[in-house]
Amino acid sequence: MTNDTLDRSSIIELLTVTPADELYRRADEVRREAVGDDVHLRGLIEFSNICRNDCLYCGIRRGNRQVQRYRMTEEELVETAKRAAALGFQTIVLQSGEDLHFDQARMCRIIDQIKRLDVALTLSVGERDYEDYKAFRDAGADRYLIRIETTDRDLYHRLNPGMSWEHRHECLLMIRELGYELGSGIMVGLPGQTVESIADDLLYLKDICIDMAGIGPFIPHPETPLANESGGTLEQALRTMAVMRLLMPDINIPATTAMESLHPQGRIMALQAGANVVMPNVTEGEYRRLYELYPGKICVNDTPAHCRSCIGLKIRSIGRTIGQGRGGHKKR
Ligand code: SAM
Ligand code: FES
Repeated sequence: MTNDTLDRSSIIELLTVTPADELYRRADEVRREAVGDDVHLRGLIEFSNICRNDCLYCGIRRGNRQVQRYRMTEEELVETAKRAAALGFQTIVLQSGEDLHFDQARMCRIIDQIKRLDVALTLSVGERDYEDYKAFRDAGADRYLIRIETTDRDLYHRLNPGMSWEHRHECLLMIRELGYELGSGIMVGLPGQTVESIADDLLYLKDICIDMAGIGPFIPHPETPLANESGGTLEQALRTMAVMRLLMPDINIPATTAMESLHPQGRIMALQAGANVVMPNVTEGEYRRLYELYPGKICVNDTPAHCRSCIGLKIRSIGRTIGQGRGGHKKR
């Protein structure tokens, strides 16, 4: 059976029985053959931690009264993007809670200004309606990141009160139809999540033809209802990510920040187990600390310039190169 025709039972075997080193080596080989040694960098701006949702796992959920809330002004946001572009980032990612202060008109103004910097632009602002997604796309947004989180409908509805899995799925389809590069993904180690459901998640992501897969461990946040859960392990997350690479050889797969929160070399380990993208945080000052989805977030006291050079050194230390272009999905 070739990698990209793996069936559910082979996926489960890879996730559980196959020696981890062997799986990582295979994913690393497939990554090298399909997308080469370049590691693409994306500058991540976390521009608001205000959210209308109450996801049980998330540190910035509406119900967490301990969070000091912030939202950047349009000017701050665009300035942050300019500085990231000046540091050499050719993709900017804008992420926030679901904060409707950033309505269609405001988002389009921001997108328009950032696109003048001659960068690729990724949005990660959650569920919006078709008109918003279309307007953002027309304004110049290139990519959209929205994790499905899990394909276990019951688990999703337990973890995301007031939300609908079917609606999130529809959002993914709309985004794809509008011609964005589509990024999605899951958390690994959610309470009640099974290895069978993770295999289904991976097959789902393949089925909807994603261009980018963000896979990270769930890390319990002390100010959430899941504070006492055990969370995902680095190995579970790396294994899942490696199998994703086998299933979809040429997509973009980031070494997620949550992996490095569990282990000081987490992102490097991920880059050697199938990943080919890193998303350094280019948010500035206090905001870095206040966007706390989970505890142990890395680099909260660093500057964007420091993070850019630190990750550059790490990447080169394992014999990889920094991607020079925008690093979109090759098939496009
Ligand atoms: N609001 C947007 C959305 O929902 O797509 C983007 C922001 S949301 C905070 C980004 C991602 O953070 C989620 O899709 C989820 O997978 C991840 N996340 C949230 N809480 C987490 C936790 N405790 N541990 C690990 N990842 C978490
Ligand atoms: Fe909205 Fe986490 S609950 S971003």
